[in-house]
Amino acid sequence: MRRHFYSKVFFFYSLFSVILFVIYVSRTIGNQSYNLSDSEEMLKSTFESKSDASSIYILEWTSPYTEPFAFLGHGHEGFKKRGCRYTNCYITSDRSYLKDITKFDVVIFHGPEINKKKDMANMPAIRSPHQKFVFVSMESSHNYPVCSNKFDNYFNWTWTYRLDSDARLGYIYVTDINGTVIGPKKIMHWLRYEDMLPVDVAFKEKLKTKSKAAAWFVSNCDDQSGRMKIALKIKTELEKYNLQLDIYGKCGPFSCPRFNRSECDRKIAETYYFYLAFENSFSEDYVTEKLLHALQNNAVPVVYGAANYSRFMPNGIYLNAMELGVERLVAKMNNLINNPEIYAEYFRWKNHYEYRFTNEDDSAHNEYCGLCALMNDVAKMKEITVVKKFRQWWDNPDLCKHLDLKF
Ligand SMILES: *[C@@H]1O[C@H](CO)[C@@H](O)[C@H](O)[C@H]1NC(C)=O
Ligand SMILES: *[C@@H]1O[C@H](CO)[C@@H](O)[C@H](O)[C@H]1NC(C)=O
Ligand SMILES: *[C@@H]1O[C@H](CO)[C@@H](O)[C@H](O)[C@H]1NC(C)=O
Ligand SMILES: *[C@@H]1O[C@H](CO)[C@@H](O)[C@H](O)[C@H]1NC(C)=O
Ligand SMILES: *[C@@H]1O[C@H](CO)[C@@H](O)[C@H](O)[C@H]1NC(C)=O
Repeated sequence: MRRHFYSKVFFFYSLFSVILFVIYVSRTIGNQSYNLSDSEEMLKSTFESKSDASSIYILEWTSPYTEPFAFLGHGHEGFKKRGCRYTNCYITSDRSYLKDITKFDVVIFHGPEINKKKDMANMPAIRSPHQKFVFVSMESSHNYPVCSNKFDNYFNWTWTYRLDSDARLGYIYVTDINGTVIGPKKIMHWLRYEDMLPVDVAFKEKLKTKSKAAAWFVSNCDDQSGRMKIALKIKTELEKYNLQLDIYGKCGPFSCPRFNRSECDRKIAETYYFYLAFENSFSEDYVTEKLLHALQNNAVPVVYGAANYSRFMPNGIYLNAMELGVERLVAKMNNLINNPEIYAEYFRWKNHYEYRFTNEDDSAHNEYCGLCALMNDVAKMKEITVVKKFRQWWDNPDLCKHLDLKF
């Protein structure tokens, strides 16, 4: 213990001497390559704080234990673990890690933890004009609205599933056949259905094992989007054609071991023509990995949500329950089941595109890596940016009527 202490003292003493020597040399020789003010700055920071010049310091203002902050990890670890191109972002929730909070380059706030009146009183008391305050959310604005104008002109950046966020934190992405990410985006230039290559014989053969109309995997039976009501209507309508909707999970009689994803996936691929990719809330661009359960398992997705799905998928590969309405939707499903040749062509996209989960091991497309990449964009970090009408941007109209949410 004692020896350790002395060696530490000795180490700092040596370091100090070296730095002083460098300053001395630069002063006497007047060598241009040693910048006097830089060396002094370095000396100061070595003894005053833990910061090093190559790191970008990110303070988690809200809990480090809730998602997505929990996934960021501590220090550089989350970026290193994912093999990110940039790993110099340093994550901490310790507000006194640097001298004071104005010393952090970036402060991140998890939306669902700052949307109540009491949270407002706990926001930082001071901020530096050089810092980026970032609003973060993977949760929908429908489920977690922010009903206060107090956040107008407050955040500098957003990191959410919305496609117009400064950095995206979404659930799925689409690549072309060479693996280049092409979407989702506000304006997509998909191949026209007529220009896509037809589905081959082997694939059509694979589809022949299917025997049931549709599956729905759901765990939350009581949600705000009313999807349960629509699903039950679809089920009743399908029965008129002698077809079935099998509801898996807490809200229905079917079950698939939750821990065994591959077993559930296999079931979808082998058995079902359609898969209900119903979102649990209505918000712009809110499209989750539910869509992947269909697309990655050779089932045609039946979507229901507030997103403009043309930003996510080309036409002719899915059915939209909201647009079609229950009766037309089910008539169409029945028609496709009875016309396997036409049904098979709903998979033409597979010749041209690939759908992936955003946070798979592939670091080039990982959206946690994307956060650190944005922060390494020196021009963007320096640029003054402010989200002016934050509330208008984030909230669905009419959601903030509940008095308990307003402040
Ligand atoms: C040294 O630092 C000063 C002040 O920060 C700066 O203006 C100057 O360009 C720097 N010189 C070199 C050689 O880096
Ligand atoms: C994929 O790569 C091949 C070979 O480099 C190229 O000919 C083709 O045009 C690329 N396709 C797309 C969609 O970019
Ligand atoms: C969806 O987005 C496309 C492409 O931007 C646009 O042409 C279309 O009008 C949008 N649909 C709706 C319902 O807003
Ligand atoms: C999961 O299901 C697959 C079959 O699809 C099976 O081979 C595997 O043993 C199952 N794993 C567990 C942990 O039950
Ligand atoms: C961040 O936003 C605040 C509040 O609007 C503003 O004062 C500050 O200049 C902005 N800073 C940057 C780096 O964008």
